[in-house]
Amino acid sequence: MNTFNITIIGTGYVGAVTGACFAELGHNITFVGRDQKKLDLISSGKSPIYEPGLDDLLAKNQDRISTTTDLVGAVKRTDLTFICVGTPSQDDGSIDLRQVEDVSSVIGSAIRSSPDYHTIVVKSTVLPGTTEDLLLPILEKESGKKAFIDFGLAMNPEFLKEGSAIEDFFHGDRVVIGSNDQETSSILKALYGSLGVPIYTTTMKTAEMIKYASNAFLATKISFANELGNLCKQIEIDSYEVFQGVGMDTRIGPHFFRSGIGFGGSCFPKDVRALIAHARTVGDEPRILNAVIRTNDDQPRKLINLLKKHVRPAGRTIGILGLAFKPDSDDVRESRAISIIMDLLKEGASVVAYDPVAMENFRPLFPGITYAKAAGEVLDCDAVLIVTEWKEFEDLNYENRIVIDGRRIAKARDEAAIYEGVCW
Ligand code: UDX
Repeated sequence: MNTFNITIIGTGYVGAVTGACFAELGHNITFVGRDQKKLDLISSGKSPIYEPGLDDLLAKNQDRISTTTDLVGAVKRTDLTFICVGTPSQDDGSIDLRQVEDVSSVIGSAIRSSPDYHTIVVKSTVLPGTTEDLLLPILEKESGKKAFIDFGLAMNPEFLKEGSAIEDFFHGDRVVIGSNDQETSSILKALYGSLGVPIYTTTMKTAEMIKYASNAFLATKISFANELGNLCKQIEIDSYEVFQGVGMDTRIGPHFFRSGIGFGGSCFPKDVRALIAHARTVGDEPRILNAVIRTNDDQPRKLINLLKKHVRPAGRTIGILGLAFKPDSDDVRESRAISIIMDLLKEGASVVAYDPVAMENFRPLFPGITYAKAAGEVLDCDAVLIVTEWKEFEDLNYENRIVIDGRRIAKARDEAAIYEGVCW
């Protein structure tokens, strides 16, 4: 197996996992970042983010891992550079490309004086055309070199789910390589070959679109399940039983039909909004994607409306179980808990919240609410809303409680004195 020397720019959910997994495959990794604290954590074999199994991988592969804030130096002493920086949403739904532009410019200047062939791989989620039309010219200008002749360039999207990212890296359904030249795609095939996962090679802009289309379709599945789930709730059918039957059709599949209070996180909302904004730049109005966002925005309000059927929130104390956007994550970006707590406070309720790992990330958003030391404290409230389906919530005692469930905790459904499920 070829051993590559790889620079990973970005130590967030994508960069930290990608670098650790490449190290596990036997490659030498240089993490580049601006936050020295995160780099120090990585150098001490600790993950800068909450991701099950990442600490172990970083600790186990310390002999192949180094960290630095010096991007130029890292590029000069490696063969490949993976761009794993953020592309956050802007107010109009478009994405902020400043980080990918800035690092592309520095990479270009770093390879200018180097005689070696360096391969640059964009892993950040960027809209179709970005790598070819924006980043390639920056690299050529700053390096004074020609793409695909003097340096390689590819777009290689990630399909990592937070909470299971390492599993998704090693056992994903496919690796997508977008490149316009043979040399670059063969280097990446050599890099990913040992995974034994199907590799799909295409152009850079097609790879960019595959990423967006994949996330937009998964978000569509969820909103479809929620739209049907809302109807099922009205006509007293359990949407989970419906989608168990639907998912047995191999053309449809069973995954991502868990109806509830909808999707959050740093990907689905951002990517669907970005695709809508991008479509509008060419005069398209994507009606389905607009409906996916609208349905998703409505779901948390349904939880509040169900609560109000049983408890007037004003003056009462309402418990929130779960703050992370999904279980096995400390990430609270676009968590459904945000709009739910905002609505409860507007209704004049007090809030007691608990999450096994995300409370410190959530606290700055709502410093005035109470953060419980244990889930049991939340159960003593006038009513309990289940917002994130942490496994440990299946071990709580819901007897004599009023529970409004946004995420389907079976024990709550069996035990609560009053129980409502948002779509069941
Ligand atoms: C997603 C994609 O799954 C992944 O392939 C991509 O690389 C990044 O974005 P992630 O956002 O980390 O991953 O988590 P995911 O498990 O997809 O959940 C996203 C949101 O959808 C969560 O808020 C989750 O609660 C919600 N969800 C998921 C549902 O509401 N119902 C489902 O059936 C599945």
